Amino acid sequence: MRYAIIGLGKIGTAIAQAFAIQDIEVALAGRRPPEALAALAAQIGPSLVPQRVEDAVKADVVILAMPFAARGDIARAAASWQGKLVIDATNALGVPPEELEGLPSTAAIAKALPGAKLVKAFNHLPAATLAHGATTQQGGRRVIFVSSDDDAASAAVAALADRLGFAPVELGKIAEGGLLIQARGHTWGRLIFQDLARFDPLTWTGIRGRQQDSADKDEVSPDELTGILNSSR
Ligand SMILES: NC(=O)c1ccc[n+]([C@@H]2O[C@H](COP(=O)([O-])OP(=O)(O)OC[C@H]3O[C@@H](n4cnc5c(N)ncnc54)[C@H](OP(=O)(O)O)[C@@H]3O)[C@@H](O)[C@H]2O)c1
Repeated sequence: MRYAIIGLGKIGTAIAQAFAIQDIEVALAGRRPPEALAALAAQIGPSLVPQRVEDAVKADVVILAMPFAARGDIARAAASWQGKLVIDATNALGVPPEELEGLPSTAAIAKALPGAKLVKAFNHLPAATLAHGATTQQGGRRVIFVSSDDDAASAAVAALADRLGFAPVELGKIAEGGLLIQARGHTWGRLIFQDLARFDPLTWTGIRGRQQDSADKDEVSPDELTGILNSSR
């Protein structure tokens, strides 16, 4: 699976950091040529590969992290968008709804990229918050909201968010639950800016991980479990 991020600005950099932490190769492209992105990419991590936009959009999964207004430029950069998974991390705040024919902005992007499977994700947090990474200060997994009219595409992006260490929460269709993470006119969806975290329940493996001396043990007995739980209270 080849990944690309279009736009290495504030939000693109935060997303690129998440890929770098997991050592997942991802192409990066913006208006500037690849040479101009090289220093920043190298600083973030070795799995980031600067490219021209025309090459980056050949990836299987393209993450849009440029201004919403640049969608036409990006649409023209690929010979075909058929079957491509496109993650829309843009926010169209201030764009008059009539300019979008009343559609949520992700649906307007879908119209510009015929055949692409559009998924809204990685757009609901300020870049500075997302840049803190997938784990919150309290140790939970930071929630990433996902919405799409294509259930399989939504599940694929949820799986990617999970692989990056986040806690995906699928909201359903773009014009239904997905409206909670759309900006329309001058209004933010109600889940935008909500920095939420999921705390996974303790598992046998997680509990074992708490034991200083259990590295060579395969199992935890019920008695040991009781001891661990008591000692952690
Ligand atoms: N900043 C946030 O907190 C935040 C949070 C969530 C979502 N968003 C959304 O994310 C998007 C980007 O915001 P940002 O704050 O990251 O903006 P930004 O810092 O200004 O970065 C924009 C990036 O897009 C690239 N770009 C602009 N026009 C382009 C074009 N025609 N073709 C290719 N690349 C182009 C720029 O490339 P060059 O540098 O080469 O010019 C730059 O790397 C916006 O839609 C915004 O609403 C932002």
